[in-house]
Amino acid sequence: MSKKPIGVFDSGLGGLTAVKELLNALPYEDIVYFGDTGRVPYGNRSKSTIIKYAQQDANFLLSRNVKFIIAACGTVSSVAGDLGGKIEVPFTGVVRPTAKAATKLTKNGKIGVIGTSATIGSNSYKREIEALDKSISVYQQDCPLFVPLVENGFISEDDPIVVMVVERYLNKFKEIGVDTIILGCTHYPILKKVISKVMGSAVALVDSGRETALYTAEILKEKGLLSESSKPGKSSFYVSDTPDGFSYLAGMFLDRDMDDDVTQIDIEQY
Ligand code: DGL
Repeated sequence: MSKKPIGVFDSGLGGLTAVKELLNALPYEDIVYFGDTGRVPYGNRSKSTIIKYAQQDANFLLSRNVKFIIAACGTVSSVAGDLGGKIEVPFTGVVRPTAKAATKLTKNGKIGVIGTSATIGSNSYKREIEALDKSISVYQQDCPLFVPLVENGFISEDDPIVVMVVERYLNKFKEIGVDTIILGCTHYPILKKVISKVMGSAVALVDSGRETALYTAEILKEKGLLSESSKPGKSSFYVSDTPDGFSYLAGMFLDRDMDDDVTQIDIEQY
């Protein structure tokens, strides 16, 4: 048993979709979230920069005495792997748990993967799925306009602009007939309704935040690290840019009103 918090980081606020799922799966755990809002996006940066940033993000969480770290960012998980094995607490990215879930869900053996350009360029999901089951075909598409759409609040399934962008990226998946799509970026669950509208409700959408939260619950249980508390856990939020506007966006990602405190830190110190 451990009273220490779970640490979650992302390049920005998208990782809050994983926090939302953690709050459901592990309601008695304390959570420390860091969003690198001063340096987002990571998805179009070089591998060495992403690794440097991810290590600093993890160092900050370690300074908050966390027992487990989640890189709730498709880009970091794809490009920075296990952060060179330098993290001294158990650690997970989003790729492995999500790939595993998609492999179990597909019936026709055709899985689509969407993510940032860095995630898709790394072939991380494709490699992971093929290692699990060689008979599955993986089709990939980067969707660089999705993150700016979400960050600017363009998320409605009734907005023709949003529908048009989603169709442009996903039409090839319709032609191929994938029956499962991995939302390989933590921003994308916010677009679930419109993706479902475009693809049809029969296509399963695999949410990397959700699968990673469920995986974290399993690992903490296995390692005897779950909290003993029977009171709801506390969440603390840190960002690297001014917290102005945080509540609005964070509320959208967490799907609840946000009145928690947010603290700005200087991530370059870690
Ligand atoms: N959080 C990133 C991801 O999940 C998307 C935003 C970015 O490009 O940094 O890939």
